Amino acid sequence: MKKRIAIFASGSGSNAQKIMEYFKYSSLAEVALVLSNNPDAYVLQRADNFEIPTHVFDRQAFYETDEIIDILKRLEIDLVVLAGFLWLVPQNLLKAFPNKIINIHPALLPKYGGKGMYGDRVHKAVLEAGDEEHGITIHFVNENFDEGEVIYQAKFKIESEDSLEIIKFKGQQLEHQHFPKIIENLLKKYN
Ligand code: GRF
Repeated sequence: MKKRIAIFASGSGSNAQKIMEYFKYSSLAEVALVLSNNPDAYVLQRADNFEIPTHVFDRQAFYETDEIIDILKRLEIDLVVLAGFLWLVPQNLLKAFPNKIINIHPALLPKYGGKGMYGDRVHKAVLEAGDEEHGITIHFVNENFDEGEVIYQAKFKIESEDSLEIIKFKGQQLEHQHFPKIIENLLKKYN
């Protein structure tokens, strides 16, 4: 049986798009569900285009009930992928999927992680610090923002003339290039 992936995303979902494309014809795995806390998130449209089911939830359902766990278990989800999902994952969900929840972060953790460190704020902080390199991190999720064990990092050099838009774009390219493959490698290890 194919491995089943659930993607959580709060916004545009360009990473979700790449993952859905990558696994569309895979014999190993499929994206079985896309979830969002944001009813207006463009990722929901992207999922519709792939005819992948979606589920929108609110804060109360996420933090005060087992609704999401029940859905993920019912769909026999093997791996939960956070791709631009902005809420902290609660304990009950972590316990239900131990070492089965991963996230992508647009910086070289442990640098530029933690609460409030998302989107342009990350890249702005990198430029302000005058760093010579930047990159992405794929990591397991734990009870703190951006702190679980690192699975994979990819780097690039920051050129002196690089703007925020440029380094953001270079990071996105790396995310799109690597995230689906890292997911595939992880799933190959599961029985
Ligand atoms: C990515 O940069 C990812 O690293 C971060 O959120 C962003 C999501 O972008 N966690 P998108 O919605 O996949 O385009």
